[in-house]
Amino acid sequence: MANVVVVGAQWGDEGKGKIVDWLSERADVIARFQGGHNAGHTLVIDGKVYKLSLLPSGIVRPGKLSVIGNGVVLDPWHLVEEIAKLRADGVDISPESLMIAENAVLILPLHGELDRARESQNSVAKIGTTGRGIGPAYEDKVGRRAIRVADLADEATLALRVDRLMVHHDALRRGLGIEPVDREALLAQLREIAPQVLPYAKPVWKVMNEMRKAGKRILFEGAQGALLDIDFGTYPYVTSSNVIAGQAATGTGIGPGAIGFVLGIVKAYTTRVGEGPFPAELQDADGERLGERGREFGTVTGRKRRCGWFDAVLVRQTCATSGVSGIALTKLDVLDGFETLKICVGYELDGERLDHLPIAADQQARCTPIFEELEGWSESTAGARSWADLPGAAVKYVRRIEELIQCPVALLSTSPERDDTILVTDPFED
Ligand code: IMP
Repeated sequence: MANVVVVGAQWGDEGKGKIVDWLSERADVIARFQGGHNAGHTLVIDGKVYKLSLLPSGIVRPGKLSVIGNGVVLDPWHLVEEIAKLRADGVDISPESLMIAENAVLILPLHGELDRARESQNSVAKIGTTGRGIGPAYEDKVGRRAIRVADLADEATLALRVDRLMVHHDALRRGLGIEPVDREALLAQLREIAPQVLPYAKPVWKVMNEMRKAGKRILFEGAQGALLDIDFGTYPYVTSSNVIAGQAATGTGIGPGAIGFVLGIVKAYTTRVGEGPFPAELQDADGERLGERGREFGTVTGRKRRCGWFDAVLVRQTCATSGVSGIALTKLDVLDGFETLKICVGYELDGERLDHLPIAADQQARCTPIFEELEGWSESTAGARSWADLPGAAVKYVRRIEELIQCPVALLSTSPERDDTILVTDPFED
């Protein structure tokens, strides 16, 4: 029996929600290991829609342990708000069902302010972030001046931490023309929120290891996508955390041996939100059509997503950096009705053919995609539940993707409905 890590294998928004929910129903523990409330997961359970951005997907299912690992950056005010919303929807949340790592870093109001100030200041520095303070919070973590969950328990430590943080932030804020941090107001806010967060604070690493020894099934729920990874993504147009599967171990305090099956979620075409390179992007009627048919608007910010053809080069790369065992291919039905489809199979740079995206920004900008054309299909694939339900051209498209990315399809999702899935390999049983 394997523990399963789910990672987005593109730029996020691959349709992780449905797959994660299907897996979390069969898991005992569901753990987030990176990111924060920049994620947006929509779950539909018995016709009821739940929108989550910080809490693990298992939270809506009774009897599961949901874990927010140390790799996550946690906005305590957002946490309390998300818990309250779910409780209003009848979801039972208690320290028995939710556990937060004591060593997780807090996102403070000053982080959001800094994030938004940088994004609005000048277009040269713009990343197109979600404006939630994710980047600035991770900067403070690495800069060894962050406030962590455990610090909330002791007033004296908290005051010291705030002072240390202010030295850095006040200097930054002066440069950006923002008022200095109001020390007393921040301390008062933290004192007020502390008792609402602390009951969930635990040594997550310890509990995770106990769960593992007891043979519990653990689902590691990734957010964003591997092309937004701080090391392997399209830097600097990335998020500020490691998104790839290895982070599941580091971000919860369990050894890498605990990871069994790595499921990469892959959309049948490509989208990205925010700035940055996107070699297979379409700025024509086909791109518009993908966006409309795929309802490609951000769940967190409502921004229109950029759309393009499937880029096999990038997905082959992310399958390698995350050690993907099998992919879940989603939203194939969005491609229904296209006469021909294209897949990016390589890049051309200065007359040479490349089989990967180079790291250097100037080279990335000069890369032109090499497309392979495939026959489309006019029939609907929506709701297909077996290979036999799919038109021959759709099967060929999927098989070609498997070949190009050098990774098999474990699951094919053909609509947001849970049962509209073709299961090839069960990640927990593999
Ligand atoms: P940040 O994570 O808010 O710092 O944003 C950095 C980049 O990651 C931006 O391009 C965002 O649009 C992107 N991003 C962050 N979270 C998500 C997500 O959940 N889905 C897709 N893109 C995301």
